[in-house]
Amino acid sequence: MTDPEIKKGLAGVVVDTTAISKVNPETNSLLYRGYPVQELAATQPFEAVAYLLWNGELPTAVQLATLRATEREHRALAENVRTAIDLVPLEAHPMDEVRTAVSLLGASDAVGSGSVLDASGTPEQNLERSVRLFAALPAIVAYGQRRRRGQDLIEPRDDLDYSANFLWMTFGEEPDPVVVDAFNRSMILYAEHSFNASTFTARVITSTLSDLYSAVVGAIGALKGPLHGGANEAVLHIFDEIGEASRVNAWLDEALASKRKIMGFGHRVYKNGDSRVPTMKAALDELVAHFDRPDVAELYTALADEFVARKGIHPNLDYPSGPAYNLIGFDTLTFTPLFVASRVTGWTAHVMEQAASNALIRPLSVYDGPAERHVED
Ligand code: COA
Repeated sequence: MTDPEIKKGLAGVVVDTTAISKVNPETNSLLYRGYPVQELAATQPFEAVAYLLWNGELPTAVQLATLRATEREHRALAENVRTAIDLVPLEAHPMDEVRTAVSLLGASDAVGSGSVLDASGTPEQNLERSVRLFAALPAIVAYGQRRRRGQDLIEPRDDLDYSANFLWMTFGEEPDPVVVDAFNRSMILYAEHSFNASTFTARVITSTLSDLYSAVVGAIGALKGPLHGGANEAVLHIFDEIGEASRVNAWLDEALASKRKIMGFGHRVYKNGDSRVPTMKAALDELVAHFDRPDVAELYTALADEFVARKGIHPNLDYPSGPAYNLIGFDTLTFTPLFVASRVTGWTAHVMEQAASNALIRPLSVYDGPAERHVED
């Protein structure tokens, strides 16, 4: 019998259908529930896109107001979560902090749910859990950055919408509308991307009838890696290493000679450019103008042009979002937690979709270890 073909990394394998988003590498397009992501980023607040991902339709004015009211109710950092975050060593990566915080939220929510057999929850419970997690994450991420800077917790502001309040809780200053708008667009662009590694992780965990929080905790672990969410952080390290546009060529000679992967470039699905990049690059340009930092745009363009010319590998979303988050004032270590705050909407939409039409995800493997042998007497 011939061995079955192995699809390393599941590359090219179609494992299920999804109605949540469509990534089309041929046309470089990305649709959330049918809507082009560029259109959503240009016209919608992030809360409306979260609603769309969960419910399949954009909210009416009343539905959006209801979601916003619930989001405001669950914004404040719970005391036990704050205590748990404070227990995480300051030297740990903030993704460890976020993972710990979400795990504790899950454990607190599960109180009284009885047996593991109830853990997966009803569709209504899972929608409520999704909204609560979405609402709770900004405080977790913002407090993480603040405590690393030796700053105190900032309480949420009821008069601000999601994105403006997120920035308020992080920096303790009323954010400029240009900054709020760029940040809101980044949240929308990061929200969903079909069966990427972290979303697939969430679906695998859900497929065992485990609970939504466990699925999100697992997804956070998958997102932490530099081949996935960690890339936006890695882009800034590269920018810091290069320093200025005039050093790009020399830096790239050395990096390519030592076979380094250049973070923020390349994609498993898009081979001719990432559909989300032009929208995020436009947001970056607005931030560059607002903060008067043409040097950032010069370095961005110099590295992108040179790398595309040499290797034909295009920037992905992490490439413009890294410097955009830097200009807004986020610490480099906070970038991947920001991705969590956004992608939690996509993850939880997939958890609900998987639960609604479940089959245990359990692939096969070809054994290539030692032939059968026996313990000697
Ligand atoms: N820098 C340098 N070379 C790269 C590259 C990059 N960013 N991305 C791909 N390549 C090269 C690979 O080395 C490989 O070359 P080879 O055929 O000579 O071995 C070739 O392009 C194919 O890449 P491969 O890693 O097999 O493609 P993939 O589909 O498995 O990888 C990524 C996709 C995202 C893992 C990969 O492009 C990467 O590591 N990018 C950097 C990390 C990143 O930005 N991640 C965020 C993704 S949104």
